[in-house]
Amino acid sequence: MKGREFQTIGFIGAGTLGTALAVSLARRGHRVAAVASRTYASSQRLAARAPGCQPHSSLQEVVDACDLVLLTVPDDAITPVTESLTWRSGQAAVHCSGAKPLEVLEAARDQGALVGSFHPLQTFSTVDQALESLAGSVFALEGEPPLLEHLKELVQALGGRPLVLPPGSRTLYHASAVMVCGYLVALADRASGLWETFGLNRRQALEALLPLMEGTLRSMDDNGIPQAVTGPLVRGDVGTVRAHLQALERLAPEILPLYCRLGLETLQLADAKAHLNSEQQRDMETLFTAYLREGFKIPA
Ligand SMILES: NC(=O)c1ccc[n+]([C@@H]2O[C@H](COP(=O)([O-])OP(=O)(O)OC[C@H]3O[C@@H](n4cnc5c(N)ncnc54)[C@H](OP(=O)(O)O)[C@@H]3O)[C@@H](O)[C@H]2O)c1
Repeated sequence: MKGREFQTIGFIGAGTLGTALAVSLARRGHRVAAVASRTYASSQRLAARAPGCQPHSSLQEVVDACDLVLLTVPDDAITPVTESLTWRSGQAAVHCSGAKPLEVLEAARDQGALVGSFHPLQTFSTVDQALESLAGSVFALEGEPPLLEHLKELVQALGGRPLVLPPGSRTLYHASAVMVCGYLVALADRASGLWETFGLNRRQALEALLPLMEGTLRSMDDNGIPQAVTGPLVRGDVGTVRAHLQALERLAPEILPLYCRLGLETLQLADAKAHLNSEQQRDMETLFTAYLREGFKIPA
């Protein structure tokens, strides 16, 4: 087996991701030896779920006991935590942030440690949910050999798919993740809110809209973009779009900028898919841009 030099794994930060990774790796036979966190209680909780893992009250004890240290602390804590510790040559310090570059581990690198990143491109609200969804997720990796090879092996052990990020790509990689994850939730929240205008609550809305969202995701997987786009924009139904805008203006005007902005983006996809006639395209574009530029009343 490659990467023998990183056999003993330690965790600093016993939160959602740290616990899920520690438990998953321990279950798959990896030596998760030590954990420490801001509070000892969190470390104990993690250790109780990961066979062979010892809780520590000092972060340094984890660094001293392990070959590979995964820093699963909040993004802004990575640099101060790394700087507060003494690292040794040949061991590895790896963070799990999607947004932060390897430079946040500079203090460990200066002391001879190999540095890397190990970012599951997935959303985890709870440890149990993370335990279920680590397998099948893409993990964005950075690091120099032999650490990078070892990180790939860990991803494979977790049932994930390794992706080595090109240098300098991290910020926009993370921006794309935020757009399809957090922004998707915001979009669902705004769409659900519209149901309150006709007397149904957000929970009812979400239960009804989720199967539609799931169908759309499946269609993107099966058919790709732009084929997955459907609806009045693809059909060139200008009257329907106008009716939406008028109703929004009357009952939920705060949604109009979002609806129009996304309408313009969708219009481009609709045209790529269905080759709209130029009149339909111009009419819809005029409706969206006129509102965005002037905020004026939607014409009947
Ligand atoms: N959750 C996700 O969806 C997700 C997905 C991909 C990547 N990540 C990345 O994973 C990392 C951890 O995120 P998370 O969601 O697991 O966060 P989290 O649940 O808030 O856990 C963070 C843990 O770090 C500990 N901690 C905070 N400050 C510390 C310090 N100064 N020293 C030592 N321990 C400290 C906390 O300890 P106590 O419990 O002891 O207070 C907490 O248990 C982040 O870099 C994040 O970007 C998260």
